[in-house]
Amino acid sequence: MQSASPRTNAACAVAQERRVSFIPMTAAHVPVIAELEKAAYTHPWTRNNLQDAVLHHNHAQLLVSEPLPGELATWHTATGEVVVGYFVAMMGVDEAHLLNITVAPQYRRQGWATVMLQALAVWAQGRGAQTLWLEVRQSNEGAKALYRALQFEDIGVRKRYYPLNNQAREDAQVMRLPLADWRMPK
Ligand SMILES: CC(C)(COP(=O)(O)OP(=O)(O)OC[C@H]1O[C@@H](n2cnc3c(N)ncnc32)[C@H](O)[C@@H]1OP(=O)(O)O)[C@@H](O)C(=O)NCCC(=O)NCCS
Repeated sequence: MQSASPRTNAACAVAQERRVSFIPMTAAHVPVIAELEKAAYTHPWTRNNLQDAVLHHNHAQLLVSEPLPGELATWHTATGEVVVGYFVAMMGVDEAHLLNITVAPQYRRQGWATVMLQALAVWAQGRGAQTLWLEVRQSNEGAKALYRALQFEDIGVRKRYYPLNNQAREDAQVMRLPLADWRMPK
């Protein structure tokens, strides 16, 4: 455990021999994350959205690893670390709000979003949050399955919350994870 370093190994994990760690998202990461956004979303966050997330002191973390032998990573930091995924969250008075969570396409269904959400829950709980909130597009069945698998509860719907093409809008499912009694699953 390297608690004095910005690199946190608290939620360090190994999956398929890949060792990962968290690093804070900085302005230097914005260009590569903006490219990953385009690969992940129909309506991606822009560089400005990402800059704002970094500047406004949100809890924005990258999940990175050293490349596996022979691995050519599509998305990597300037120092050559593979970007597996990232999340952005905002702390309120006694609640946290997940604003973005993304896993690079080639690393999906390997448990990395679960690692990030559990690390976020630990972080938020440690700052006194009673609840972790999020919104997800109604059509995003994969993400909803992820959140439900992690015991998030369906709370309600925000009508016309997300943009679609042609001026149309899509509803958001609002979900929450109560943190008061939450424990990291064994
Ligand atoms: C949604 C996303 C973050 C999930 O990341 P991930 O690392 O693949 O998720 P995990 O491997 O931790 O999944 C854990 C469990 O969630 C569920 N799950 C995750 N993705 C799923 C999918 N596409 N379809 C169905 N179930 C899914 C499964 O139960 C899965 O367990 P299993 O693989 O053993 O069946 C990823 O697909 C992604 O980045 N999508 C694009 C961006 C996005 O939609 N972000 C969420 C915005 S609200």
